[in-house]
Amino acid sequence: MATYQFPEGFTWGTATASYQIEGGATEGGRGESIWDRFSHTPGKVLNGDTGDVADDHYHRWPEDIEILKQLGCQAYRFSIAWPRVIPDGIGAVNGQGLDFYERLVDALLGAGIEPYVTLYHWDLPQTLQDRGGWVNRAAVGWFTDYAAVVSGRLGDRVRHWITHNEPWVAAFLGYATGEHAPGIRDFGAALQAAHHILLSHGQAVPILRENGDERTQVGITLNLNWVDPASERPADVEAARRQDGFLNRYFLDPIFKGSYPADMIAYYGTNGPRVEPGDLLQISTPIDFLGVNTYTRSVVADDPNAPPLHFRAIQPPYSEYTEMGWEVYPEGLYKLLRRLHQDYGPRALYITENGCAFADRLEDGRVHDTQRVSYLREHFIQAQRAIAAGVPLRGYFVWSLLDNFEWALGYSKRFGIVYVDYATQARILKDSALFFKDVIAANGVS
Ligand code: FCB
Repeated sequence: MATYQFPEGFTWGTATASYQIEGGATEGGRGESIWDRFSHTPGKVLNGDTGDVADDHYHRWPEDIEILKQLGCQAYRFSIAWPRVIPDGIGAVNGQGLDFYERLVDALLGAGIEPYVTLYHWDLPQTLQDRGGWVNRAAVGWFTDYAAVVSGRLGDRVRHWITHNEPWVAAFLGYATGEHAPGIRDFGAALQAAHHILLSHGQAVPILRENGDERTQVGITLNLNWVDPASERPADVEAARRQDGFLNRYFLDPIFKGSYPADMIAYYGTNGPRVEPGDLLQISTPIDFLGVNTYTRSVVADDPNAPPLHFRAIQPPYSEYTEMGWEVYPEGLYKLLRRLHQDYGPRALYITENGCAFADRLEDGRVHDTQRVSYLREHFIQAQRAIAAGVPLRGYFVWSLLDNFEWALGYSKRFGIVYVDYATQARILKDSALFFKDVIAANGVS
């Protein structure tokens, strides 16, 4: 028995996303995505990096599955590139794209690895952005048609579907701050985009179920943080409540309670989304699991000069920080999971992403990423603690299998437990991968 033993049947895996690893950007009939357009626009991505080649997973996926096998992973979370399957976003289906994912799924199943498939991890077909992207209500139908096509082909084999990855990021970084594709800066547009993403999720749930069987599990992945105020000052406590509303409740409430949080709707005022009768009922279609991506906690202070939410993030002193500038706060994972269980009661929870970027160095063919080992170890322990407290956490996916294209930061940030030498595409297991292998074998941490 390990010191921190996980329940029998607990699922261990790693996660990736299509644009971050695949490359093969113009191969196999793939259409252009908003991330192709964005990364090829000068000044948008650090060092002008693009996902054109990335980890060349499009060609090297058999080797990547071998690595998953070697680690003993029971599951693998990946995403499907919409423009590979439907190059123009709507209309003609590209058989080669579906074939690619079918081969991947079949090879995973053949290796005894359960595929957890995300339908949307931010690579919207550019043709749809040209029609307004997620701000256009028609996007709901575009997405459900796409979901029907993919699940029509793979629904007899894929048991776990994730409709969307992190709607908050897709909406706010894509449409409000413009740090991500499509690079729009309009807060009201972001709220409208968020609403349509949520609605497309709700409408896709029954489609994914119809194309599966009684074993099919459908969920959504949200990026959620435990939030603390910078001080006990009432203004900071209020700011923390706003951050919690902005990041967490604004997505959790519609999905689990069928309503947007009243305080946030009041706060957003005329920026708020246009919502049609019946939308919230569809958004709250019961799901089988909630996927949680969490990396750090939020600590915020009131700041009247920081519109539109009027708070700013604080970095508590004496904490450890990752290369992303994110505080290492493992207990946040425990607190967040307990809070989700208590306040929303999802049937099951998965950590669909957790991990860290550090300045890894390849030395004599090894990567001694001791900080990542300790980060993962501490977070696993907090997950086990949450399970012991009654939280129905069923699995844990480390972000990421491979170093990859970290969006606006390009290849400058390494999140992999496997090092990628981009010059040769060689994959090298970091110490954290070897540690993870032991954790999976023991189903626990000692
Ligand atoms: C999450 C994304 C994932 C990756 C990690 C570091 O927000 O879902 O693609 O970039 O952050």
